[in-house]
Amino acid sequence: MKNILEAKNLNMSYKNNQKIILKDVNLKFEEGDYVAIMGESGSGKSTMLACLAGILKPESGEVIWQDKDLYKLNDLQLSKLHRNTISYVPQSNVFLKEYSILENLLFPYMETGKIEEKHEKKAVELLEALKIKEMRDRFSYELSGGELKRASIARALIMDPEVIVFDEPTTGLDNKTGEIILSFLSYYAQKGNLVIIASHDQKVMDYSNRVYTFVRENGGISRLIEGQIKAKSNQ
Ligand SMILES: Nc1ncnc2c1ncn2[C@@H]1O[C@H](COP(=O)(O)OP(=O)(O)OP(=O)(O)O)[C@@H](O)[C@H]1O
Ligand SMILES: [Mg+2]
Repeated sequence: MKNILEAKNLNMSYKNNQKIILKDVNLKFEEGDYVAIMGESGSGKSTMLACLAGILKPESGEVIWQDKDLYKLNDLQLSKLHRNTISYVPQSNVFLKEYSILENLLFPYMETGKIEEKHEKKAVELLEALKIKEMRDRFSYELSGGELKRASIARALIMDPEVIVFDEPTTGLDNKTGEIILSFLSYYAQKGNLVIIASHDQKVMDYSNRVYTFVRENGGISRLIEGQIKAKSNQ
């Protein structure tokens, strides 16, 4: 059976903000999909992504992965899922600043046992593939925005997750660096994984096989509209 991530009737608003952010959202993604969630600032992209990733519990609705609602898992099950299967990269810097980039990458191995030479080799290979190998012993505050984004991808992919949920991977970057990131993620989706991106960057749409856009309706509610659906690039 294909792995499918499915959002069913998601509704979300924030307690101290009366605005409805997500209203009856239903989405279904499968392995190999490269999904772009577009929309203007404040339209709800990050909220949507965090809900899909099992980070932010919606007010109502379900997010189903392998027949289970993420929000019915206990903390231990959810943290295992986040470590191994669904990797979430928020808009902000998530690197621990007292550890080097390489140490940050190796953290999940530290949590689950001990770090072996093959783990370190894998981390360095990922950094190399993203053309930032020389940053391995630096700290996150010593990296440029583009280097940090690329390091975030390496951090997200170290455990070979089946799903990567990446909030604004190219914001603030030059075109060339943005394209390195988008094509790297595209390659990851082609290998049979699911990639979900939130972005303002129109270029993301060139790489995606599914695009959803938040469009503001009368009454101020943003609704998620299904846009282009193309064949997956590996088909
Ligand atoms: N924790 C919170 N409490 C209250 N309101 C919030 C919270 N987080 C987000 N919001 C509000 O919800 C709306 C949607 O925010 P969200 O971060 O999802 O938008 P976005 O599309 O990702 O924006 P951007 O492109 O600027 O990142 C905004 O109006 C924002 O102010
Ligand atoms: Mg956002």
